[in-house]
Amino acid sequence: MAARKEIEFYLNGKRIVEGAAQPEMTLLDYIRTEVGLTGTKLGCGEGGCGACTVMVSQYDKATKKVHHRSVNACLAPLCSVDGMHVVTVEGIGSTQSGLHPVQEKIADFHGSQCGFCTPGIVMALYTHLKKTPNPTTHGLEEAFDGNLCRCTGYRPILDAAKTFASDWKECQEESSEKEEKKAEATQKGNHEFWEQGPLAGFDGVEVSSSTASKVRSDVSKGQCCGKKAKAKAPEVPFPEALQKYQPQTLEIKGARATWHRPLTLMELVKIAAAHPGAKLVVGNTEVGIEARFKFCNYPVLVSPTMVPELNALSLEKGAISLGAAAPLTRIREYLTGLVASGKISEKQSGSAVAVLDQLRWFSSTQIRNVGCLGGNVVTASPISDLCPVLLSCNATLTFARLEEGKVLTRDLPVSKFFLDYRRVDLRKGEVLVKVALPVTSELEFVKAYKQARRREDDIAIVTSCMRVVLSRGDAANEAKEKVESSKIADVVAAPSGYVIKEAMLGFGGVWKTPTRASKTEKLLTGKPWSKETIQAAISELAVDFPLNPNTPGGMSEYRKTLCASFLYKFYIHVSHALAGGTSAVPASHLSAITQFHRPASKGQQNFQVNPSQRQAIGKPVSHRSAYLQVAGEAEYIDDLAPKHKMLFSALVLSTVPHGDIVKVDAKAALAMPGVHGYFGAEDVKGHNQVGHWGDEELFASKTVHCVGQPIGIVVADTHRQAVEAAKAVKVDYKQKPALLNIEDAVRAGSFLGEQEGYTLERGDTKAGFAKCDHVVEGEMRVGGQEHFYLETQASECIPGENGEMTVIASTQNPNTTIEAVAENLGVSVHKVVCKVKRMGGGFGGKETRSVNYSAAAAVAAGALNRPVRIVVERNVDMATSGQRHAFVGKYKVGFNQDGKLQALDVTLYSNAGWCLDLSVPVMHRGLFHIDNVYWIPNIRAFGRVCKTNMPSHTAFRGFGGPQGLMVAEAAIDHVARHLGMPGHELRAMNLYGEGQKTHFNQVLTNNTIGRAWDQCKKRSGFDARLQKVKAFNSASRWRKRGIALVPTKFGIAFTAKFMNQGGALVHVYTDGSVLVTHGGTEMGQGLHTKMIQVAAGALGVPIDMVHIAETATDKVPNTSPTAASMSSDINGMAVFRACEKIAARLKPLRDTLPKGTPWKEIVHKAYFERINLSAQGFYKVPDVGYDFKTKSGPGFSYFSFGVACAEVEVDVLTGDHQILRADIVMDVGNSLNPAIDIGQIEGAFTQGMGLFTMEELVWGDSDHKWIRPGNLFTQGPGAYKIPSFNDVPLDLRISLLKNAPNPKAIHSSKAIGEPPLFLAASVFYAIKNAVEAARVDHGLKGAFPMDSPATAERIRMTCPDEITKAVGVPSKFRPLGSW
Ligand SMILES: Cc1cc2nc3c(=O)[nH]c(=O)nc-3n(C[C@H](O)[C@H](O)[C@H](O)COP(=O)(O)OP(=O)(O)OC[C@H]3O[C@@H](n4cnc5c(N)ncnc54)[C@H](O)[C@@H]3O)c2cc1C
Ligand code: FES
Ligand code: FES
Repeated sequence: MAARKEIEFYLNGKRIVEGAAQPEMTLLDYIRTEVGLTGTKLGCGEGGCGACTVMVSQYDKATKKVHHRSVNACLAPLCSVDGMHVVTVEGIGSTQSGLHPVQEKIADFHGSQCGFCTPGIVMALYTHLKKTPNPTTHGLEEAFDGNLCRCTGYRPILDAAKTFASDWKECQEESSEKEEKKAEATQKGNHEFWEQGPLAGFDGVEVSSSTASKVRSDVSKGQCCGKKAKAKAPEVPFPEALQKYQPQTLEIKGARATWHRPLTLMELVKIAAAHPGAKLVVGNTEVGIEARFKFCNYPVLVSPTMVPELNALSLEKGAISLGAAAPLTRIREYLTGLVASGKISEKQSGSAVAVLDQLRWFSSTQIRNVGCLGGNVVTASPISDLCPVLLSCNATLTFARLEEGKVLTRDLPVSKFFLDYRRVDLRKGEVLVKVALPVTSELEFVKAYKQARRREDDIAIVTSCMRVVLSRGDAANEAKEKVESSKIADVVAAPSGYVIKEAMLGFGGVWKTPTRASKTEKLLTGKPWSKETIQAAISELAVDFPLNPNTPGGMSEYRKTLCASFLYKFYIHVSHALAGGTSAVPASHLSAITQFHRPASKGQQNFQVNPSQRQAIGKPVSHRSAYLQVAGEAEYIDDLAPKHKMLFSALVLSTVPHGDIVKVDAKAALAMPGVHGYFGAEDVKGHNQVGHWGDEELFASKTVHCVGQPIGIVVADTHRQAVEAAKAVKVDYKQKPALLNIEDAVRAGSFLGEQEGYTLERGDTKAGFAKCDHVVEGEMRVGGQEHFYLETQASECIPGENGEMTVIASTQNPNTTIEAVAENLGVSVHKVVCKVKRMGGGFGGKETRSVNYSAAAAVAAGALNRPVRIVVERNVDMATSGQRHAFVGKYKVGFNQDGKLQALDVTLYSNAGWCLDLSVPVMHRGLFHIDNVYWIPNIRAFGRVCKTNMPSHTAFRGFGGPQGLMVAEAAIDHVARHLGMPGHELRAMNLYGEGQKTHFNQVLTNNTIGRAWDQCKKRSGFDARLQKVKAFNSASRWRKRGIALVPTKFGIAFTAKFMNQGGALVHVYTDGSVLVTHGGTEMGQGLHTKMIQVAAGALGVPIDMVHIAETATDKVPNTSPTAASMSSDINGMAVFRACEKIAARLKPLRDTLPKGTPWKEIVHKAYFERINLSAQGFYKVPDVGYDFKTKSGPGFSYFSFGVACAEVEVDVLTGDHQILRADIVMDVGNSLNPAIDIGQIEGAFTQGMGLFTMEELVWGDSDHKWIRPGNLFTQGPGAYKIPSFNDVPLDLRISLLKNAPNPKAIHSSKAIGEPPLFLAASVFYAIKNAVEAARVDHGLKGAFPMDSPATAERIRMTCPDEITKAVGVPSKFRPLGSW
């Protein structure tokens, strides 16, 4: 039969026959650009964020069932869905037709902030529920392993998901039992927190909610389990026609490639023989990445997914046969079934279980749903998770090819397959058909290990699988074979009488291919299974893998240690199994093999609510856009309908860190299809400048100062054409020396801002040091942080008549946007308007850097007189838009024997990148916060802003505060460990009191730190838990726990005085509806919701009558950026004042009307009375503005306070950690909206967890020679890990400090965006306490340094022991970082 030339599938129930499908096109591109359904988002394009998740369903004729899978549409080829039903977020519900319960729950539980991740999260949950008739809480938590959210901290999403769990009763009972006990206890004694009723100063009632109570209340409404949940929107059924779908051979010819989908092995090998360069594609999770990021072009693509031999899973002749194209999820289900059903016995299941163990932490659900084993093996990635299992289990690969018209097969042991880096023994025209995985037998042990930066959805740092076959040896033989080795004290004795017959140790992440530790295997073979043998083998592993610091991937010492630690774990595992679980291994050492266990997480929130029915203020109102967001209807820049004649653009970026531009040649790019122009410095009509300080060019004209600096912009018909053309612009440079880190800059004396630096000083540090009992010195390095807003930088510029330009941007800073665009276009600012509907996250990254992208697009739009859109790809965004500043802090601290702090001298260095941007105020904030919450009589804080050849680093939530605070806490920690005093005691004794002055002479009024501290300590049960932690640690050698209490104080105000102003415009229409516009932008933080509450409260109308359409510079001019946590304060007051004006104008009329006259009627009458129903409001914050020159003036309007207690458990052998519980008490004043404030606390805390424990930027410099100088290695979610669902504290309890009205801000509230972020330092110090416990076991006492983030590498390498010694790591080794 002739091949079909078109694809046919269903999208949200509608049949689509596409005759012009392009084989290289992704499903996401098709859905968004061809169909125009923009609910499904592009967050990364590399399968790492889940924003693009859709459900793909397929009818299986064999089982007569429909199979549902969540899929990353950004990787799935359009052609791959032939014969399937694709369901997007639009297909399950809408605000018009009714929302699906999944959508409704996520919105109602406050699970959507900026909303960009939300459609993907909705679809992941929806698909899981479709696939799983009886979802469990555990399964639901795992179902999100392929989705990221940067705003919420995940807890509310998990709470929403749990309402669908079929086992909700268990968790309800478990939690409610505890809650009841607690309630009982508090009723007896501590009424402070649980008491209900009016509260002083805020007439509020206290509310306590928890995961369990939410599930309970939802169940009582009859809306809980998937079974009970009634879809409000009609479900789109699986199309009947697809049940009769007959697969056909496909041959889809596109402009650049042809897609073949054979149905038989013969067809497949024929195509492979006819097209020797053909690329097989299954999940496209490797090929798709190559195509998108490496611009690989494959003219012949072959999909073998319908070839039966490549999909078969069976048990044959002592081996499990796994079809090369079977998706990993199917393999997982098959193996689980084999083991559970007893089709293979427990003894035989070793290899299958090892594969299952790897698959648990292999990528994500979405990737496993499409990715196959064959793809993993043939790619031969050195960090493949499955290849080490196949290597150690001695698997066999079977290939097929066409020869003389027949299918010929070839078998090959997998160990012979990997030839060199990504080079394999796959011959011309061959395809991999299957993998035979031998089952195990008596006395054969297999175990797989993986350590990554993050547990969930991460590629390994080192991955391994080890297998030994033992025999019962006779004692005489055993004695002969005894091995000499150095002693490793922690290696305990094994059961005697066993000899190693065979050893195969597979590794990934230590060589250019997946490999085996051949020398170690040789050493082991024939030796007794004993302590001595394993001690020798541990040392031998370092000979097998002599990694050096320049090895690609870095972390050589850690990787060597991991190999040895895994072997040690394996030794304990086997020894324990040999002993039948009895006493061979002491209980404390069994902690080496404790499996990672994550029970269902839960949370609690306590807050006060304004009981007034009329007042909207203080109510936990949900985000006003939440329903639009869960439905995929909320629009972001790239979702806007393309304007007439609109073009797309991409930047041409510097590829060297420092150099003169010799020549720019855009000829090749301009000749490419669809390209309309290239614009560089010479094309800028106005000034080629951006930034406040005039030190930045829009397009580099002569010199480039960093990799990623814009040189020009290319404009084309499509985004992809523009990106490809931008790559084709050739730039020649004359390279210059580059400074790539703080150390380089300090050595070269390269600083920005005041060359003499910045100083804050109080008292006399010299005298303080001279008088005190002890002085210690140290250094703390705090790495930078990528914003990782889910919506990348994006803007659309639309030229108008007479030089006008409208910029619709994803920016926190509309005002600077119009100033820059006007400057670049050479027009007055009044010709340019910037509009912002919402951002898919900002976190400071769109405070200034967004402006450059808008301005670049505006230049192109102006030149062509056509609308131009720019949407920056994730990797480009990360590499060019700057991050949180890395800091190095050197401290000297003086203190008395009793712990009282006397003097602190700190020097802070920040890595600013190449130009000023906001680096000076960022440094100022670092210096302002160097005291944290501690009274230290003598302080000197000195800061220098280092100029390096990196993209300009910029604002990020906390704005230098967290870095300064972290250095302060490092000094405190040093003092406590030096004195041998518990950290919490030292902290408590040095807290600021009411009325004391900071080191910049600001009096602390309404200081709530003492109350917050006491409450957090009490609520967390700190004292009792500390004792439990100690008891745990003394009984556990390899897993350690730590608990820590850390406080914070955060100054609220822009440190630049003029920025502390806000504006608003309020219109009341004749139907009574109210339109508010204010100077702030909505990026998920709920600002618009709070402003609506303020307006509704001021006018006395329900919140549904108030609307905010967008932020626009032609409505409210001269606005400050939405930053510094100030937006509610400044814009809230402006909104309030505008409403007050209207209310005052209405009052005389109101007074003439009967009491209770409806608002609508009053307004209507007012119109006819010709009363002005529109008002502008303005507010300037009084009493702010510190002058660094005169050292005078208040730094801040007021301070926010908070305290957190975190408890963690660390795997000492790998550095992995888990947060067992976190309690936060935060002073938010009288909360304007407790739900939003709690969302901000949880989101900030999670982002802080990322900053201090996980997120590590890695740049090419002298410490990272394996990366090209000045290049960012961590350019996407694949390499840069933000916290995921799996990192949420198992128990997260948030309390808003009660009765703490703030006289300085709107309705006595307090700012909330930034202050809680630093509280995540409690996790860092809990980890450090756990590390200390491990060090003590190894005989190390006293203070020790640990830089931030406390990554798995840093945790492991700060626990030196006999294993690290055996692989040659110096005991004081301090892991490298990018600072
Ligand atoms: C976000 C993300 C996370 C990931 N996480 C992990 C992880 O945790 N661990 C890990 O090991 N990997 C991981 N990967 C890598 C990847 O998902 C796996 O290697 C997967 O198994 C590849 O399968 P695929 O079907 O998608 O391969 P494809 O991309 O379709 O193909 C990969 C290569 O294999 C070739 N190929 C495929 N099948 C055959 C065959 N039968 N015969 C000959 N050649 C063939 C293709 O031509 C191509 O060269 C991750 C990838 C992504 C994008
Ligand atoms: S956009 Fe597809 S996973 Fe990020
Ligand atoms: S709400 Fe999840 S990324 Fe913003």
